[in-house]
Amino acid sequence: MNEAIRPGVDSQAQEGPELSVIVPTFNERDNVTVLYRRLEATLVNVAWEVVFVDDDSPDGTSDVVRALALQDSRVRCIRRIGRRGLSGACIEGILASSAPYAAVIDADLQHDETQLPKMLLLLASDQADLVVGSRYIEGYKSEGFNKQRAGASALATEVARKMLRVEIADPMSGFFMVRRDRFEQLAPKLSVHGFKILLDLVASAQGNLRAVEIPYTFGARQHGESKLDSMVALDFLGLVLAKLTNDIVSLRFILFAMVGGIGLVVHLTTLFIALQLIKVPFAEAQAAGAIVAMTTNFVLNNFLTYRDQRLKGFAILRGLIMFYIVCSVGLLANVGVAFSVYDQEPIWWLAGLAGALMGVVWNYAMSGLFVWRK
Ligand code: GDD
Ligand code: MN
Repeated sequence: MNEAIRPGVDSQAQEGPELSVIVPTFNERDNVTVLYRRLEATLVNVAWEVVFVDDDSPDGTSDVVRALALQDSRVRCIRRIGRRGLSGACIEGILASSAPYAAVIDADLQHDETQLPKMLLLLASDQADLVVGSRYIEGYKSEGFNKQRAGASALATEVARKMLRVEIADPMSGFFMVRRDRFEQLAPKLSVHGFKILLDLVASAQGNLRAVEIPYTFGARQHGESKLDSMVALDFLGLVLAKLTNDIVSLRFILFAMVGGIGLVVHLTTLFIALQLIKVPFAEAQAAGAIVAMTTNFVLNNFLTYRDQRLKGFAILRGLIMFYIVCSVGLLANVGVAFSVYDQEPIWWLAGLAGALMGVVWNYAMSGLFVWRK
């Protein structure tokens, strides 16, 4: 094992790898072998391993990785089924490694793996707890960015730096190396949703993570396509919100409550149509309103609020029935609370508000347990 690269570590200390390279993959079958070869070439003087975390890619990425692993025991593959998400994959990969240092790098060759030895040296010589590959500091060059994307990324970076007091120049980077023990301490605070694992890490550390940035060239993608869509903006907002409120308010809850608000409008509209236009008796009209509203809410939540856990196929029917049950009990809770508040303080809007709040909190909690359960 090379001694030069880890000055701070006792020479006869460890047998295993010093660096774990974590590579999240989704449909990257044409890129993983090239990346592996490049790692092998650049990490000649390092005891390293690579952990691919694949979210059951339909293109069979995990088969390619496993074939590599049969030839080289430094290669491992974590294949996750029924879960999607870049941050979650990176977290799981780092936690599954045992080397003192962990790097995260994209599979698509857009990051510059030749920076890894330099990054490792900065950590091993204890000059930093975190080294970030940055596209924003002097010396950076970016080939893989179109104008629109660059603008959005710059805006998000500004928001993150102002609102979350994140000091680093490129908190949206997906290329970094971190001391595993420090990561392990912060891991319980991290969100598995979305793309922004580095931002999350730095914001969660609240200044207690010595970060160093090194510039690199963000290259163009070789094969396949980017998985970032417009929904990442939503993920970003959610992360900012969660960190600002110390993880009390989640984006999921806000989306759920918003969908609930839409449901109210749907309910009243249906009620109006049934009563005024179709001339159905009130009880039936009210029931129709409730069913239409619950169904719309279910569809919207499945599409938006829980898009990372979206129910598909037969599970939709089961989920819908569970959602009806959850919401019906929620309505009882709503009315119960409203009554008891009104009993003590006969202010109609206060009682109504308390009931509605109880209803949405109940529906949210129970939906997470029984409808979109993990
Ligand atoms: N396991 C897993 N699960 N991997 C994923 C998922 C997922 O749901 N989504 C994407 N990946 C993998 C891709 O296979 C790739 O290796 C890497 O994560 C980055 O995904 P891309 O789709 O190529 O992202 P990008 O190039 O548009 O975005 C990059 O730059 C952003 C900065 O602008 C990434 O590095 C982002 O992390 C970074 O924020
Ligand atoms: Mn990419």
